[in-house]
Amino acid sequence: MNGTNSSWKDRALAALGPRLFGYLRGRAFDSPDADNDPNEQALQRYRLVPRVLAGRADINLECSVLGHRYAAPVGVGAFAADRLFSAQGVAAIGRVCARLELPLFVSEEAVTPLAEITASGADCWLQLRAAGPFERALGLLDLIARAGGKGVVLTVLAPVHPVPGLHPGGVDVAAEIATRGWSTIGAAEGVAHLPAFPAWGVDELVRLAQAVHERGMSLLIKGILHPEDARLAEAAGCDGVMVSNIGVRQLYRWAPAVERIAPVSAVLKNASVLVDGGFRNAADIVVARLLGAHMAVLVRPVAYALSAGGEPAVAQMLERLLGELQAVCAWMGVAHLEQLDASQLIKLS
Ligand SMILES: Cc1cc2nc3c(=O)[nH]c(=O)nc-3n(C[C@H](O)[C@H](O)[C@H](O)COP(=O)(O)O)c2cc1C
Repeated sequence: MNGTNSSWKDRALAALGPRLFGYLRGRAFDSPDADNDPNEQALQRYRLVPRVLAGRADINLECSVLGHRYAAPVGVGAFAADRLFSAQGVAAIGRVCARLELPLFVSEEAVTPLAEITASGADCWLQLRAAGPFERALGLLDLIARAGGKGVVLTVLAPVHPVPGLHPGGVDVAAEIATRGWSTIGAAEGVAHLPAFPAWGVDELVRLAQAVHERGMSLLIKGILHPEDARLAEAAGCDGVMVSNIGVRQLYRWAPAVERIAPVSAVLKNASVLVDGGFRNAADIVVARLLGAHMAVLVRPVAYALSAGGEPAVAQMLERLLGELQAVCAWMGVAHLEQLDASQLIKLS
């Protein structure tokens, strides 16, 4: 196995078959092109300008995000129904994240029990949906706080298509989970049935931020693309904003995540900026940093590796990424990502 992202993807297709692979790849129902990810395409327009006379050998990728130290500004993001892709589930990713000192964002729709995931030793953040009774969310805050989690990620752009029949890849993941008799983290039994169109607004956000802080954790809001929403979220008490279009899995026409980093960063005072959607390699992560993100989060490359080869493949994929990041930093002439200069980024027209 050569361990490139495209080889994990090919092997994931072979392991899962076209239907489940189609869900994982998850093109929106209105996508004109199943082969291309619009987030990845938007990232390809950014090019880096190396500085070759700085002579850097002492590269340090460490970063501090939301008061936590990580070995690199790279996280693994949330995905539902983890055991559809590998019997090892997201706990296998947790063990790799713990060893590599990277954060793990866990979907409330994962089917591996939370205790098994946190037992990996990884810094875990629980991702919740901004829908349903507020008390349900409070119960999940208690669950992650008891499990020693670092915080909560509240997804405010629906992570599933609310209209039946328009699910990513045409697969109804709730039905897949129910058929197998599994339960998600977010439901006492089976799958939480949440309203199709989330009705949460700023009032709920203020209450949730307070409840998260009372439990000694941090709150990240995920699915923000407009700077005014980012400003409102910070004013409501969010500690960080995850710029995300949820991988354009619901609607092809969402603005590419990479294009929204700079406008969102510009309005935030202290909140951390994270981003996901199309980040695949070290150059992408450097682009995210140059545009103002403190961390880039990856989902599908990690899920492809998990599907293709379980824990060893996830380890190989992430170790390779961190190695590549060291090399790109050296070529960019910086010992630390903070030293990158805006003059080192250009965008092709
Ligand atoms: C199979 C799958 C399931 C997902 N489930 C969730 C979820 O439960 N909650 C959520 O907030 N995002 C979910 N997402 C979205 C991802 O967290 C992420 O925002 C998106 O995939 C973009 O990152 P990527 O391009 O690196 O995959 C899911 C993505 C995939 C591929």
